[in-house]
Amino acid sequence: MNILMVAAECVPFVKTGGLADVIGTLPKYLKQNGHDVRIIIPKYRLIDGVKYDLQALPYKLSVFVGKEQENFRIKTCMLDGNIPVYFIDNSRYFNRLGIYGDDSGVGYGDNRERFIFFSKAAIEATKALMFRPDIIHCHDWHTGLIPAYLKTTHLCDGFFWNTSTVYTIHNIAFQGSFDAASTLPMAGFSWEDYKSDKLEFYNTFNYMKAGLAYTDIISTVSPTYAKEIQGVAGKGMEVVLQVRKKDLYGILNGIDYSYWNPMTDKNLVANFSANNYDNKKLCKKYLQEKCGFIQNEKTFMLGCVCRFDMQKGFDLIMDAIGKLSNFDIQIVVLGSGDRYIKDSILYLQNLYPNKLKVYTNYDEKLSHQIYAGVDGFLMPSKFEPCGLSQIIALSYGTVPIVNKTGGLADTIHDFSESNDKGNGFVFDLYKGEQFVDCILRAYDIYNNKSLWNKVVQNSFLSQYSWINSVKEYEKMYNVAINRKITDNIYYKNI
Ligand code: ADP
Ligand code: GLC
Repeated sequence: MNILMVAAECVPFVKTGGLADVIGTLPKYLKQNGHDVRIIIPKYRLIDGVKYDLQALPYKLSVFVGKEQENFRIKTCMLDGNIPVYFIDNSRYFNRLGIYGDDSGVGYGDNRERFIFFSKAAIEATKALMFRPDIIHCHDWHTGLIPAYLKTTHLCDGFFWNTSTVYTIHNIAFQGSFDAASTLPMAGFSWEDYKSDKLEFYNTFNYMKAGLAYTDIISTVSPTYAKEIQGVAGKGMEVVLQVRKKDLYGILNGIDYSYWNPMTDKNLVANFSANNYDNKKLCKKYLQEKCGFIQNEKTFMLGCVCRFDMQKGFDLIMDAIGKLSNFDIQIVVLGSGDRYIKDSILYLQNLYPNKLKVYTNYDEKLSHQIYAGVDGFLMPSKFEPCGLSQIIALSYGTVPIVNKTGGLADTIHDFSESNDKGNGFVFDLYKGEQFVDCILRAYDIYNNKSLWNKVVQNSFLSQYSWINSVKEYEKMYNVAINRKITDNIYYKNI
């Protein structure tokens, strides 16, 4: 199969969260199964062209955003595993410091134009490259317009005759909803397309709705989230998703175990494995020193690596910090994003400097050191489509403490003393007391070394590899290909 991934981020080039991990990893596993997979992302300024040896291709292309002609070039390089990556290079939209917005967490005012441009440019780039995809796999709201273009403005474009689309929801909280009167003409759609079963969403023009309405197949990143978003977690999209229930797949993300590997990880002061994790103590000692904490092996050390976003349960985390201050617990938080969360958690750090250390930037190396160095990993998310951080934590023998929601419910199972099963600690009511109880339950088990070793062993053994998920993606792509051929009215008539 020829598969084209189009997304707003991809590791190692640019990352704000798990979307980038998925885009940089899933293609490698598809490629191993014999598919020709390519990736298109924007060429943001922060992607270092020299470091990645980006080569400019000889095309001069342009698309219209409203009545403005926007020129762009394509740059390219190979991702590990021999996957071509194409970068859409346009200075007006992407040559700026941030990815989606400035560093206070506020989005750029022209994001609607930026992703109209990107979607149109991705379609034109595909044609220029003469890469005829069987599947265009679009991710999140930034690329929601692509399935809509293929079924409207490009419906009769022979180049895409055999192309089906798959649209993956990584996070339904970000939808890209804009004023219809100005956005519709800017995007180049007709008012005919502005209907409740197409682009319209509660009197706005919504990019995610466009993706959901026009794509051949929809997927999301865990089976439980696929169910949840057909109900209240759907953030308004539940009705569309109920209507398209038969086309909705929930496929769990995996992680790249060659990258997130405590045995070979060069970011750590010492390496360890599931069979011998004595050196995890050295990683903890190093982290305690770095955080300015008392270095005590016995202290229960907890970590959190995530975007500063209320999705991640920061109200519970901040509430818990004071309540845990009398226990022998240290907490290290690494995150960036929302300024309110940043300021509030820094304030708490001032109150409890011996208990809480906060890093407010994006730091890949430190994230590895936290995953490896702490005993428990906090992820009390209000909702979590899949979550990669808890899966990464498991691979370092770090025990997740999570709310039972979305992909957390699918990957983390509560430890039971009666049968020694379970790879983490789970609470199932989103409340401060439940979260604190859950942490203290973990704390008690931590203080019983033989029981704790069992949880750690169970964590190490829980592997969520892409190998299984890729088989499900292949099945889904085949359904999308057949669906396109049989269901499209236009194709039926020729
Ligand atoms: P989400 O995509 O909602 O942010 P995931 O758990 O799926 O959540 O993925 C988060 C990814 O981003 C993980 O790889 C995590 O290690 C990484 N990450 C998040 N914040 C930071 C940060 N401040 N520094 C380094 N890595 C981070
Ligand atoms: C989103 C979700 C997260 C998921 C990631 C990758 O950002 O919040 O749960 O793991 O996408 O699919």
